[in-house]
Amino acid sequence: MKNVKGVPQSRPLFRQVYDNILNRMERGEWRTDDKLPSIRMLAEELKVHRLTVFKAYRLLSEEGKVYVRDKSGYYVSADGVLSSELEEGSFVSSYTISNSLSDIHRIQAKYQFSQALIDPNLLPNIYLSDYVKKVFDLYPKVMGTYASIQGDDELRESLSQHFREHHRLQLSSEELLITSGAQQAINLIAQMMLRPMDTVLIERPTYSVAMDIFRRQGARLIPVLITPEGYDLVEVEALMREHKPRMFYMNPTHHNPTGYTVPAWQRKLLVELAERYHCLLVEDDPFRDMYFEEEPPLPLFAYDTEGWVIYISSFSKYIAPGLRICAVACRYPFMEQLIKAKSLADNGTPQLNQKIFLHYYTSPRLQRHLDKLRIALQVHKEIMEEELALAGWEWTAPKGGLNLWVKLPGDISADLLFRKSIEQSISFVPGEICDPLGELKSWIRLSFSFANEIDLREGMQRLTALSRTL
Ligand SMILES: Cc1ncc(COP(=O)(O)O)c(C=O)c1O
Repeated sequence: MKNVKGVPQSRPLFRQVYDNILNRMERGEWRTDDKLPSIRMLAEELKVHRLTVFKAYRLLSEEGKVYVRDKSGYYVSADGVLSSELEEGSFVSSYTISNSLSDIHRIQAKYQFSQALIDPNLLPNIYLSDYVKKVFDLYPKVMGTYASIQGDDELRESLSQHFREHHRLQLSSEELLITSGAQQAINLIAQMMLRPMDTVLIERPTYSVAMDIFRRQGARLIPVLITPEGYDLVEVEALMREHKPRMFYMNPTHHNPTGYTVPAWQRKLLVELAERYHCLLVEDDPFRDMYFEEEPPLPLFAYDTEGWVIYISSFSKYIAPGLRICAVACRYPFMEQLIKAKSLADNGTPQLNQKIFLHYYTSPRLQRHLDKLRIALQVHKEIMEEELALAGWEWTAPKGGLNLWVKLPGDISADLLFRKSIEQSISFVPGEICDPLGELKSWIRLSFSFANEIDLREGMQRLTALSRTL
């Protein structure tokens, strides 16, 4: 694969074929002693040269994950996939294997800076319980039937109106699908739109779960650097021209993990590029409403007239992560495909959750909650920034979101700091797992939204003191 000037090169093509084969072995498509497709067949399926497949098979065979039978072909070894995971050994490798972020979140910590979630004490839990009662009064049979696959009509109507009025999205309720969280939306999009070896542009760094989902689908990921100024559009265009990606997955507003926001002028141009190169823009936008002073630029979807943007708007973060309510906006024929995928996934998001959400979302309480929440989040962010400044760490102050993306001072390794921090009950996300290239070893993501103010200050003091001992 050729390298585009100035762009970090992704894994060599034969390595991507290797990943694809391993993924499929892991998923059980090929089991122990199964015969693998011939080099010619796999090369045709993946649209690569036969030599590329040969190199991938050779590497798998050298590593003992497959074996060769004379004149017959390649076969899956007894425990090839398992041994590949165990061999890695180091701490970082063991959490970069599959859904790495969730592995980190399972670690219990008093000073919780790894979860990009809001402290439940800042969420409207008490009010939501009022709506549970109301929903049962209004719809006594709400649990006695299946929900519609596309999502509750009233909810879609109300959200489409909200998107029209607040974000200038030209939308009808028919162009909205309710999913169980943004994560499910990304998963459905990947399942419907991606075939093995399709190319996906992805921000560097990025939301690591999305990376895991695309990889599991067998996609080739090509990183696009995101900076406080947005993307380098010359590079984005070069990548689109050269690699003809199926999609560009992006989180352009208060981006996870960096907090950066892509400026309005780039949004318009990105939509033009998507139209020119027939590349879907998957715009994941869960942090839009969590701004500190000024509202962010309009979503890319607002500039899209040809249907090249799929817009994902999750309400998990600031209303109720437990309700798992997210809206996906897109045009036909993509909407038809997504509805099909949703029907296969779970036949519709639970109706009860949708109704509770609808009644809260359309109440005047929502605005009051958001106003208070924005102030609380800004206070949290400032506490974390004060402690970082005292320690001389570097970051770019975000205009919204839940995280700070921090460069560690000197040559401190995020991996080492992580291991030492866990011993002191402090957790954060090492930058490496947000990087499609698995580098960025001196960066970390610190979420300021989950810990309370006291733990936030105390935990940051402990973390920065700990770093001085390394
Ligand atoms: C960019 C991004 N997309 C999607 C999600 C998942 O959202 P949900 O809880 O709606 O599945 C997250 C959660 O952190 C996220 O940061």
